[in-house]
Amino acid sequence: MTKEQAKKRIEELRKILNEANYRYYVLAKPTISDYEYDKLLEELEKLEKEFPEFDDPNSPTKRVGGEPVKGFKTVKHKYPMLSLEKSYNIDDLKDWIKRIKRLVNDDFTFCVELKYDGVSLSNKYVNGRLVQSLTRGDGIYGDDVTQNARTIRTLPLVLKGNDYPEELYVRGEAMIAREKFQKINKRQEEEGKDTYMNARNLAAGTLKQLDSKIVAQRGLDFIAYTMLAEKLPVDNQCDALKKLEEWGFLVPHAYKKAKNIDEIMDFILDWGVKRFDFPYDTDGVVIKVNEFDVQKKLGYTAKAPRWAMAYKFPAERKLTRLKSVDFQVGRTGKVTPVANLEPVELGGSIVRRATLHNEDNIKKLDLHEGDYVYVEKAGEVIPQVVEVEKSKRKPDAKPIEFVKKCPVCDTPLVKIGADYFCVESDNCLPQIKEKIKHFVSRKAMDIEGLGPETIDLLLEKGLIHNVADLYDLKKEDLIPLERLGEKSADNIINSIEKSKSQTFEKVLYALGIRHVGETTAKKLARHFKSLDALMNATPEELEKVGDIGEKTAQSIKEFFENPKNLDIINRLREKGLHFELTEDELPKSNKLQGKKFVISGTFEHFSRDELKKSIEENGGKVVSSVSKNTDYLLAGEKPGPSKMEKAKKLGIPVLSEEEYLKMIA
Ligand code: IVH
Repeated sequence: MTKEQAKKRIEELRKILNEANYRYYVLAKPTISDYEYDKLLEELEKLEKEFPEFDDPNSPTKRVGGEPVKGFKTVKHKYPMLSLEKSYNIDDLKDWIKRIKRLVNDDFTFCVELKYDGVSLSNKYVNGRLVQSLTRGDGIYGDDVTQNARTIRTLPLVLKGNDYPEELYVRGEAMIAREKFQKINKRQEEEGKDTYMNARNLAAGTLKQLDSKIVAQRGLDFIAYTMLAEKLPVDNQCDALKKLEEWGFLVPHAYKKAKNIDEIMDFILDWGVKRFDFPYDTDGVVIKVNEFDVQKKLGYTAKAPRWAMAYKFPAERKLTRLKSVDFQVGRTGKVTPVANLEPVELGGSIVRRATLHNEDNIKKLDLHEGDYVYVEKAGEVIPQVVEVEKSKRKPDAKPIEFVKKCPVCDTPLVKIGADYFCVESDNCLPQIKEKIKHFVSRKAMDIEGLGPETIDLLLEKGLIHNVADLYDLKKEDLIPLERLGEKSADNIINSIEKSKSQTFEKVLYALGIRHVGETTAKKLARHFKSLDALMNATPEELEKVGDIGEKTAQSIKEFFENPKNLDIINRLREKGLHFELTEDELPKSNKLQGKKFVISGTFEHFSRDELKKSIEENGGKVVSSVSKNTDYLLAGEKPGPSKMEKAKKLGIPVLSEEEYLKMIA
């Protein structure tokens, strides 16, 4: 085959395969058999291998994913990705309509659509070809997940038709259909793995996968709802949706033009019921002013367009019976009441347990044994008991009492704030277990192979009593354990050895000091640079580190006052764990080399001094007033108006704290 012939055939095959893909996934009306499709794809793969000069990132062969990546590039959105104002009832909607009618004189209509509960994605097309897909990120900068997005079968790689703008952005939601979500969860359950909270979380996690081959297998979909370009071929939202469909996007027929509030409400009531039969999760309706020229006149607030409003469907709630209440002891000794419920289906998953938070909440609910209770998903994720159906209560039912002693080790509980704690942390098994689990977890010491069951076995056999004991384990200790072969034992020992190279901030996080999460550990490590310095710090010194309050400072002090903790730390030190920043962790980036910054306003993560230090550590310089020599104005909350004004006049870029953090990341 000549080069010319190959080029022609490759183009032909791509066209046929793209069309077949569209008919199969978007229209759900396949026109060729799977066998034929595979044959043609195989032919294309072969030709592309033989003639790599015709490689194309938008070839249908790329739908299966490529080489794993190390991380995602952050990219500035050409048009910021804003959010939507929310409403929960008809009065909110009426108010909004009144408000916008006051702002413009024109007559206008509405386009009412479903609000898809997925993960927003912005796709850039140049001359009808996908070039970049960004996540929302903070709305200004997003992550470049193009390689992952290319595996989404319902996201066109090449647009149909020819009336698209040269540069076009198509936004919508990456989603996992409910049925697929349930299948994936069922498989997780069968394999004894954790299940996913909901389809949105799974979609979000999937988009952030570093291995696009996994993304390809999950079967994400993309639902389009917005187009953006310098010049659009349509002048209203309903036509835009139609156009997106013509170009090959998946646009569910779940939108309509509405003239007034009555027609809007018809749509809302209609879909409030139909949504349960819709293949994807929706959490409401979005009402948009239909005409683009009116949208333009209404414009935007800092956060959201004035021309659109989300209406949230009420959270789904179900009635079920309380079987019993468990009191669970966590890693820090906190005792949490958990309701065991008669299983009930809620928002796509079966709920068997729901948190009751604390004693006050149990009292507020006036919860009694055997009560019928309403459960809802908080933020549509965590199930919780929201109300008791008192009419169904048995007359002799006893109120639920919070336990006074640790349900595991019988130690009297201590109340701190609204919560009860078991302070016998060294002899209370669940606390020990949770501490070890936390210590070995990926974000802490990252010790592989030590799953919860293995940890249970090690504790049971008395091979470990605390985290320091892990470093005394020998292969011979592990092999006799049930189900552990020589290879797994080797892996565990190697992984424990490898964990000794984890950085100080990870070690600090791994210690499991109450209120010291990942971010706080990082800040403390960077600020104090060594455990000794941290241990010697006064509460006042601790509170000087951004974000650390009295509670955290107190808990750090208490942790280091406990001789048992000190003993463990000493043993870990002897084993060679990092208790100080290593040479190459000491800040010396030159990311801001030679750049001059003016700081204005207040910041969330830094005090002024810390910010200055951070800029200098990265090679930059802080100057006091904006001039043409300034490189950036770093503006926090409430920046000085004159500085902002001047920066604007001189065309000096204004950075938000988020953007600055990204710059030095
Ligand atoms: S239009 C300026 N239309 O909801 C924002 N958004 O809560 C215009 N969403 O970030 C967005 N369905 O990710 C629009 N039919 C729809 C939507 C929709 C879901 C998401 C979107 C947005 C979020 C705001």
